[in-house]
Amino acid sequence: MDDFKGRLTRDGIRIHDADDFIGMHRAGQVAAGILDAMAPLVFPGQTTEAIDAEIERMVNAAGVTSATIGYRGYQHASCISVNHVVCHGIPGPKTLKDGDILNIDVTVIVDGWYGDTSRMYVAGTLGRKAERLVQVTHDALFKGIEAVRPGNRFGDIGFAIQSYVEAARMSVVRDFCGHGLGQVFHAPPNVLHYGRPGTGPVLEEGMFFTIEPMVNLGRPETKVLADDWTAVTRDKSLSAQFEHSIGVTATGCEIFTLSPAGKFHPTWG
Ligand code: MF3
Ligand code: CO
Ligand code: CO
Repeated sequence: MDDFKGRLTRDGIRIHDADDFIGMHRAGQVAAGILDAMAPLVFPGQTTEAIDAEIERMVNAAGVTSATIGYRGYQHASCISVNHVVCHGIPGPKTLKDGDILNIDVTVIVDGWYGDTSRMYVAGTLGRKAERLVQVTHDALFKGIEAVRPGNRFGDIGFAIQSYVEAARMSVVRDFCGHGLGQVFHAPPNVLHYGRPGTGPVLEEGMFFTIEPMVNLGRPETKVLADDWTAVTRDKSLSAQFEHSIGVTATGCEIFTLSPAGKFHPTWG
C-alpha cells in the first residue's frame, strides 16, 4: 500500500476518481493561465530569467507551489528552451534575438495536484521553417490526444504522433517522454511519442498523464549539456514542444491544461 487513494493497474498506473479530475482541472488551469500571460514578455532583447521571474511571481500570487523549484536540485519556476534546445533549458541572462522560438514549460502544485504544460512562443517575427515546425508539433500533440480513449493502448498514441511528424519530414525525439502524474510529478507510465499501434499498456478511464512531443527539423538525437539539464539537438537543428496534462474519460479524455483564454499559437499573442 501507499499513501494515495485509487487502485493501480498491473502496469502500475493509478486509476483516479471524479474528485481527482476536479483537482487536476484546477491545477491545469493555473499552469495554463500562467502560460497565457507569457506572450507579451517574449520579445527580442528580453532574457529568459526575466520571463522565469514573472512566472515565479505569478505562481506565488496564485498562492500555489512551483513543482520545479527544488525538484532534483532544479532552481527555477520554469524550463525555457530556445531554438535547438529540446527541453529543460535553464532560464538565464542571455537575451532573445528576433526570430528565436522558445518553449516555456510550467508545472504547479495546487492542493496536492500537479498541472504540467508547455507551449511555443516567438521573439519578434516567426520564420517560415520555424512556423512549420511549431505548427506540426502542436498538431502532433493533438493527433496523440485524439488517440486517447479507454481500450486503446499507449502505443496508439505514440504511433499517431510519430506517423504525423514523419509524414511532415521532421523527427520525433526518443530520449524524453511524457509521464503519468497526479499527486506526484512523474509516475508510470512513460508516454512515448513514437511506437506501434496495439502495443503498450491499455488505456483505462481515470488514468492521468502528459503528452509532450518534442519534434526536430533535423535528426532526433539529443545530448545533455554539462549543466546536467539542458538537452539540445546533436545536429543543432531547431526543436519544438507542446505539452498537455490529460485524464482518460469514458469516451476520450479531458485536457486539464487547455488555455483559459483559448490561446496556443505564438503569433496569437
Ligand atoms: N515540466 C517538465 C516535464 O514536462 C519537467 C521539468 S523538471 C525540471 O516533465 F526540473 F527541469 F524543471
Ligand atoms: Co511533463
Ligand atoms: Co512540463
